[in-house]
Amino acid sequence: MAAIRAAEAAADKVAALAGTWRQTGAAGDLLRLRDERIRAGAVVDAALDTAWGDRHAEPAPPDLFRPAPGELPDIALSALTPDTLASAMHHHGALIVRGFFTPRAALDFRTDIDAVQAALQGYLDARAEGREDDRPTSQKTLFQPVPKSGGLHKGAATAFLGMSGAVGTMLSPLVSQRLLDRFETLGLRGLLQGYFRDEPCLSFYKSVLRRAEPLQHPAEWHQDGAFMDAGIDSLNLWVALSTCGAGTDSPGMDLVPQRLRHIVQPGTNGALFKWSVSGATVAEDFAGPLARPRFEAGDALFFDHFNLHATSSAPEFTRARYAIETWFFPKSRCAVNQIPVLW
Ligand SMILES: [Fe+2]
Repeated sequence: MAAIRAAEAAADKVAALAGTWRQTGAAGDLLRLRDERIRAGAVVDAALDTAWGDRHAEPAPPDLFRPAPGELPDIALSALTPDTLASAMHHHGALIVRGFFTPRAALDFRTDIDAVQAALQGYLDARAEGREDDRPTSQKTLFQPVPKSGGLHKGAATAFLGMSGAVGTMLSPLVSQRLLDRFETLGLRGLLQGYFRDEPCLSFYKSVLRRAEPLQHPAEWHQDGAFMDAGIDSLNLWVALSTCGAGTDSPGMDLVPQRLRHIVQPGTNGALFKWSVSGATVAEDFAGPLARPRFEAGDALFFDHFNLHATSSAPEFTRARYAIETWFFPKSRCAVNQIPVLW
């Protein structure tokens, strides 16, 4: 009971801070709201039963899709419901949703990502001179590490993320709030409640704003579940902010277009990393063509921790690709090692 009361109190505090920030629009309130979302996430406990059902114990949903070989279920935003989402995920392991963001919203978030990357660089430069606290408020709202949480940032991980073209979404108080507001407007909270039968939270580590340059070498195939606690449930929402993928000059995503229900043994058969799956294993284990969808700016892709995928690489991909990736968990089956954040 004490744990439930603590979780409720934490959620109340986040809601109150969100209300305050909406009224004042003050940078300090925005920073406090972001920090509290992360602090409150620490009381999200996978052992705490917040669910009102177990979707895994229910009969399988009907298969509403018949994608051609090498393709994935593909719908317009207006057709996105808990039923279409559950059907696609259960039978095909992924779902493409066209026009999830409007072209205007996609453009705005691309501009935001450039601003966050510049603010990260400004932070690193200022930190090198010991004056990171002296940055203008406008820069702190764009990029600000979480205070008193040295362990959370894993040492140099923040800088590494910046170099690889990804910045943790929650490291930007302003853009994370804009994104959550957009999700709220789109009804994503209700969709996830219906899908998970539980309140959603999101991952601090795995939710990122990306500006990815074309790869010099083929990317490694992987399942994100290889990095996460066992026994979890998840849903990743990847939104392309640039036109990318097949037939474009910007890299999208390659996917095994199948529902997988286990972690494929990583680190063998020529895999480069202990968490990755080699192209040879993918070719041997999965018959049929792989999926390489084309995405317009604003199109989204849902998949989960069992989906086997890789960033596309090919000579024709010469232009950077912008995307926002947000990993959600149900509170009762969250990957605690990915640091849940309260939404
Ligand atoms: Fe991944």
